[in-house]
Amino acid sequence: MQNSYDQIAQQWHSHIRGKAYIDRLLRYVDLALEGLQSGARVLDLGCGTGQPVARYLVEKGFRVTGVDQSEKMLEIAKQEVPEAEFIHSDMINVQLAPGFGAAIAWDSIFHVERKHHSGIFQRVANALEPGGRLLLSVGGSDAASTAEEFAATYDAAAEGFTSEMFGHTFFYSGYQPRVTRGLLEAAGFEIEVWEVDDPSSRGHIAVIAKKSA
Ligand SMILES: C[S@@+](CC[C@H](N)C(=O)[O-])C[C@H]1O[C@@H](n2cnc3c(N)ncnc32)[C@H](O)[C@@H]1O
Repeated sequence: MQNSYDQIAQQWHSHIRGKAYIDRLLRYVDLALEGLQSGARVLDLGCGTGQPVARYLVEKGFRVTGVDQSEKMLEIAKQEVPEAEFIHSDMINVQLAPGFGAAIAWDSIFHVERKHHSGIFQRVANALEPGGRLLLSVGGSDAASTAEEFAATYDAAAEGFTSEMFGHTFFYSGYQPRVTRGLLEAAGFEIEVWEVDDPSSRGHIAVIAKKSA
């Protein structure tokens, strides 16, 4: 099982996202974890190299399960966060034992063909305890900077587009935000936070959704 991140794992890991970005992301993580007891299980879906999210969760005393399709990203994650459990799997069909207190899927679901998004939301909902929160990001990309560029890279069959990062091709897919919101609600989530978190990133939205009790 390979994905494009296998080609750039070390570059991605070394690439500095910036303190302001990381602080903002971890503030959302804190919001998603509010009220959760230390020791609870937290899912990190599309965990990448484990930095900064899985590392932060472990330091807060949570038991982390990271899932990623890229073996090379996971190799780094295992070094960065040896306390966590990692599953090498496509999130579309990952087998998750229920009982998670919270879940994070930051900048990962938009790499999956959108026809699978509602199934992923349902899979996460099934794995969460009632009242558990999911933090995810929706839409946005600095990938295609013009409508022409977007049109040139759009793949109608896969309902997504590609862009280049570190000289490799990456696939992105998603619905209009209101459609994604409806899919989350249909999977049994109540939306608590829905905000554009990075205006420079073409409508990148941070979402915190709580599984109905
Ligand atoms: C942009 S990185 C984000 C990593 C991490 N969530 C973060 O914010 O640092 C996207 C990650 O999603 C993973 N990913 C993409 N498609 C996936 C899939 N279908 N199943 C599991 N992981 C996937 C990639 O391998 C990559 O590690």
